[in-house]
Amino acid sequence: MRTPLVAGNWKMYKTNQEAVELVSGLASLLKGLGGVEVAVCPPFTSLADVSRLLEELGSSVALGAQNVYPRSEGAFTGEISPPMLKALGVKYVIVGHSERREILGEKDDFVAAKVRAVLDEGMTPILCVGETLEEREAGGALGKVEGQLDADLANVKLEEASALVVAYEPIWAIGTGKTATPADAQEMNSFIRRRLAAMFGESTVESVRVLYGGSVKPDNAAELMAMPDIDGALVGGASLKAEDFAAIVRAAS
Ligand code: 13P
Repeated sequence: MRTPLVAGNWKMYKTNQEAVELVSGLASLLKGLGGVEVAVCPPFTSLADVSRLLEELGSSVALGAQNVYPRSEGAFTGEISPPMLKALGVKYVIVGHSERREILGEKDDFVAAKVRAVLDEGMTPILCVGETLEEREAGGALGKVEGQLDADLANVKLEEASALVVAYEPIWAIGTGKTATPADAQEMNSFIRRRLAAMFGESTVESVRVLYGGSVKPDNAAELMAMPDIDGALVGGASLKAEDFAAIVRAAS
């Protein structure tokens, strides 16, 4: 059985003080909850304080980062390296989010280099894939996601694949209030698992968690999580309120 993972992607929200307040609230709401793994991905500016706080509270909430640059150090003004994240206790790194692909123009080869760099530092990438509304309506959703998986995971070795986390995030569902139906999300997540099985072998992929992301809220989380190939959620807007995020975590546990 795969332990579900619910990760909060805070995007570019929360000052450091607000981040610390959110995490304190969350840690107390989630205390003692089992059967689910939880991660928060604050902005870089709060990773250090959130990390310290989680440690002080003895919380089981894991720390994630929203991005990384695929070099261990160097003259890359404004960028953050895998060792810098690792040193703060970061466990998960979101890679290939559609906002970075669409707004910042990140291409698959860059995403693939990030996946490699995160694995090299002993952290776990959360690889985001997903189609636009146009691509879905033209019948190209599966093809788009297949292409992303093939390109973005091209540098992953067979023995590393079982630890991967993939998040299916249909672009049209992100921040729009429109969620994929549980059946549509299940169809894509199952397709992702089959594609990974073809790439890395059936047994390896049994343990890979395939998340769903895109307008996950307390009132739709349970029906999404009930699907056999949805192993948790990557939550944006609803992760910014401790009560809402905790309700989603409870639905997954
Ligand atoms: P929303 O939950 O705000 O739709 O965002 C989803 C997302 O992009 C998580 O990475």
